[in-house]
Amino acid sequence: MRRGRSTAPQESGGSTANCLGVVGYVRSSIVERAVLSLAPLLLVAGLAPPPVASGPASTGRCGDPAERPWCDARLTPDERTELLLAEMTLEERFSLMGGDDPIGVFTGEPANGTSEGIERLGIPTLFFNDGPAGLRKGRATALPAPVSLAAAFDPTGARRAGGVVGDEARKRGIDVVHAPAVNIVRTPLGGRSFEYYGEDPLLAARTGVGFIRGLQGEGAIANVKHYVANNQETDRFVTNAIVDERTLREIYLPAFEAAVVDAGVGTVMLAYNRVNGRKVTENAELVNGVLKRDLGFTGFALTDYGMAQVSTADAANAGTDLEMPRAFWFSPEALRVAVASGQVSPSVVDEAVRRILRTMFRFGVFDRARDDPGEIDVEGHSRAARRLAEQGMVLLKNDRGVLPLDASRLRSVAVIGPESDEYRSGGGSSRVEPSSTVTPLEGIRRRAGDDVEVVHDTGYVPQRAAQVAAAADVAIVVVNDDQTEFVDEACLSLQCGDPTNGDQDGLVRAVAAANPRTVVVLETGSPVLMPWEAEVPAIVEAWYPGQEGGNAIARMLFGDVDPGGRLPVTFPREEGDTPTSGHPERYPGIAANASYSEGVFVGYRHYDEHGIEPLFPFGHGLSYTTFAYHDLRVRHAPRGDGLVATVQVENTGDRTGTEVVQAYVGKPEAEVAQPPTSLAAFRKVTLDPGERRRVTLHLTRRSLSYWDVARDRWSVADGCYDVLVGSSSRDVRARDRLPLGAAAC
Ligand code: BGC
Repeated sequence: MRRGRSTAPQESGGSTANCLGVVGYVRSSIVERAVLSLAPLLLVAGLAPPPVASGPASTGRCGDPAERPWCDARLTPDERTELLLAEMTLEERFSLMGGDDPIGVFTGEPANGTSEGIERLGIPTLFFNDGPAGLRKGRATALPAPVSLAAAFDPTGARRAGGVVGDEARKRGIDVVHAPAVNIVRTPLGGRSFEYYGEDPLLAARTGVGFIRGLQGEGAIANVKHYVANNQETDRFVTNAIVDERTLREIYLPAFEAAVVDAGVGTVMLAYNRVNGRKVTENAELVNGVLKRDLGFTGFALTDYGMAQVSTADAANAGTDLEMPRAFWFSPEALRVAVASGQVSPSVVDEAVRRILRTMFRFGVFDRARDDPGEIDVEGHSRAARRLAEQGMVLLKNDRGVLPLDASRLRSVAVIGPESDEYRSGGGSSRVEPSSTVTPLEGIRRRAGDDVEVVHDTGYVPQRAAQVAAAADVAIVVVNDDQTEFVDEACLSLQCGDPTNGDQDGLVRAVAAANPRTVVVLETGSPVLMPWEAEVPAIVEAWYPGQEGGNAIARMLFGDVDPGGRLPVTFPREEGDTPTSGHPERYPGIAANASYSEGVFVGYRHYDEHGIEPLFPFGHGLSYTTFAYHDLRVRHAPRGDGLVATVQVENTGDRTGTEVVQAYVGKPEAEVAQPPTSLAAFRKVTLDPGERRRVTLHLTRRSLSYWDVARDRWSVADGCYDVLVGSSSRDVRARDRLPLGAAAC
């Protein structure tokens, strides 16, 4: 059968970008390389080069509605889908269920996934690319790592991030973007913690919804990933997450649920792992059951690349719609046999194809040129990257008012650290080749101005760095970890993941001993241990701050902007404090079985439940000003939809500042064990000095519920509900207690 060919224009700068893309993807550890070297085996279906894009883009890829009635854009996506489906041969239907390009995943060109269309029917080719932190296709805007978007506690910012990626995708001929990644950070050791939205399901859900709305608002299709319970890189292709129903519903599913229900996400990526004994791609209960039936997902479910799918009939019958990056189990030959032998009903094939076509119609893929016209606003996107980084930056500690720095009172600044003059990002499929970069040193130098001497030292020789620090008014030490897809961290200390950067803890200690005004800037993807915490007055978590990171760091250090971030993950004091520590059966699992026996006690829920004092708690982050909370009032929301809390927040300092007002709920233990507190609502406000604002927080009925296994639905237990409002999960400024159901408090 003849399949369509792309009519995309050639990408400019292709070869350099290709080269950089390959280097970026393959750059990491030995383990990563070993896994990648198996790739040809994983892609046994063939290694034919991808179709070469050529020729001009057409406007409207469908054709003349007089000849092809499904090309009539006035009809609904469902109507158009049925008209088209009726015209398709069975072979043509098979052909839409598998991708066609095994190479693009390594290069990002012309896309990192391609599913060819059918010329005879005007079905366009679909192009896919990563990017949770920016488009992974040659040079693009490198946004701060997704963990930073979560740290912003700001769905509007996440929306802006999604908008940047969506705009670049559409203008560069990409239809589907493999993003956002909304898996919960179950252990900070997880190699992709930087790529996810933290440890709390509500925060991950709201951030993900913002991102998807922004991306899909530009006409691109989001691909929320990795469905579901994909929480570690160790044994990632085979891990069996053994997780009970309540925990799945309350912790691991909500961000996917919100993506479907609130954001109308177009596609879902099915993860590599198994859940309760079955590969997700073969898990009918999770895909046809929870995702499609319960959550009402109407888009299509595609596989993660290479090892997610391991069968034809089981996967098709479970609800897997599209195999990526290349059809093997869903090759026309395999599907033909499965249908002929009665293992797969033709109606299952129809349903998969229907979902793919309906999504393509819904997002206008048939009706537009492959590339959106118009230039990418590279500078505007760069500014967005900077603002997002500023909004995600967390000031963890600021004793003696060391920060913000005042350039007019400084003579010299020492900038120290192995990567203080480098661009740092996470590795793997979310790695972006930045359109430009600003390193911390460059940003600080620029901001400090000509009258301040900025001295640089890589810190590889701590004694020398200490001398440089001692001679300066202020020492800024930039230290980092090195997270990447494919490998988990072996431990939580800074140098653990990356011995090439030397003893960074020792470096911090040496500098802090030499200069009492030492500021540590962390560029890490997730929590690290800080054995030197008591020895330094100021600590900033900048995450992997994206291409404008250096400017964002400088603006924050010099007080041009208030640090906008709060922790989306708990920073433990000790390695042994995390929810999975000391439990190899939980993590990394035994014989690839990972028992999620901590249940709903994930992240701060674990620390609170077991009375473990974290180094920095979930939700923590300082401002350069101070806030007071007054007059908390909590009442029942209209129509029984939970509670409404209002509180007056006042800026009591002398600078404009940003506060993230957080509402936690303590649910009654009546029916099931409950964490002491769960985040139920949050709101970010910026107030001028002396300004007071009444902030309203809606604690929805859902946020007060638990998953009631016996009744197979969300239930609200009768009892007393504590509402705690404050500045972090451990900094509660006001509280109230209200009854729900047949209870008196
Ligand atoms: C990752 C996905 C990614 C895909 C394509 C896989 O290895 O798990 O997140 O979208 O590759 O690059």
